[in-house]
Amino acid sequence: MTIAELQAEILRLKRETDACILAHSYQAREIIEVADVAGDSFALSKAAAQRAEAHVLLCGVRFMAEGVKLLSPEKRVTLVNPQAGCPMAEQMDKAAIEAVRQRFPEYTVVAYINTTAELKTVCDVCVTSSSAVEIVKKLPGNKILFIPDCNLGAWVQRMVPEKEIKLLQGGCPIHAAVTVAETKAARAAHPEALLLVHPECQPAVTALADYVGSTAGIMRYAKASPAREFIIGTEGSIAEHLQYDCPEKRFYPLTKHLVCQNMKLTTLPEVLLALQGQAGEEIRLDEETLRAARRCLNRMVELGG
Ligand code: 13P
Ligand code: SF4
Repeated sequence: MTIAELQAEILRLKRETDACILAHSYQAREIIEVADVAGDSFALSKAAAQRAEAHVLLCGVRFMAEGVKLLSPEKRVTLVNPQAGCPMAEQMDKAAIEAVRQRFPEYTVVAYINTTAELKTVCDVCVTSSSAVEIVKKLPGNKILFIPDCNLGAWVQRMVPEKEIKLLQGGCPIHAAVTVAETKAARAAHPEALLLVHPECQPAVTALADYVGSTAGIMRYAKASPAREFIIGTEGSIAEHLQYDCPEKRFYPLTKHLVCQNMKLTTLPEVLLALQGQAGEEIRLDEETLRAARRCLNRMVELGG
């Protein structure tokens, strides 16, 4: 089958089986094109609660599919490629965070949405990179333990200096690997370009940026800006999608190694197989995990996340 034939069959079967497709922006173009909602973690978590379809196919990584299940427990949720995980989501375990909570009971534990459902059960509220600053500002407490991404946490601290934010060592291995030297080299290679960087990058890198924001924030900024050239400091697919959407502008990836292999595991043929019930994994969470982890995500939604 050609890509167009695969896409046509996916669209037909999706309608016939009351299914919808949610795709993270780091997915390939041909998957984004068949998605009902494509966006960052913030957009996907909002869509999860709003879609009417009984079956949700998630093209992205496991914590995103778990997030959809937590927000819509009555729906069937399928992670199209069950191998697609996020290394950051697995970095901290429940027992370790419970122990930290006991030592510092006065801290509100804020979990980046890139965490397992199990870890969310011992956290107070979730945030996405789009909503982190706004939600931390709104929390009644002034002492925050932000997990697992210390780079995103440091950025939130910069934006919300009035609160005390404790960090643990964790983060996205892809974004955190970007160096200051690479960033300066990209600037030197494209002196006219604006530098747009995701807050999962190290503080020394975000400090050099013209704009720091989530995946959706970077895309919005680049589309609205009158500038003609941009260096994109997040997963490589974003520079590609922007180049496709804005052919009159130029987009350069900050480095060639800013590629999330987990996000690349999902393929278009697999999306069709998952709709046919021949691929993918249905997300199942036990009652206790569902109840406790939902609290954390629902609080995010209440606070406007
Ligand atoms: P956002 O989608 O929240 O920008 O996060 C980026 C990311 O790394 C997703 O895993
Ligand atoms: Fe996880 Fe980083 Fe990949 Fe996002 S880009 S899924 S945070 S490893």
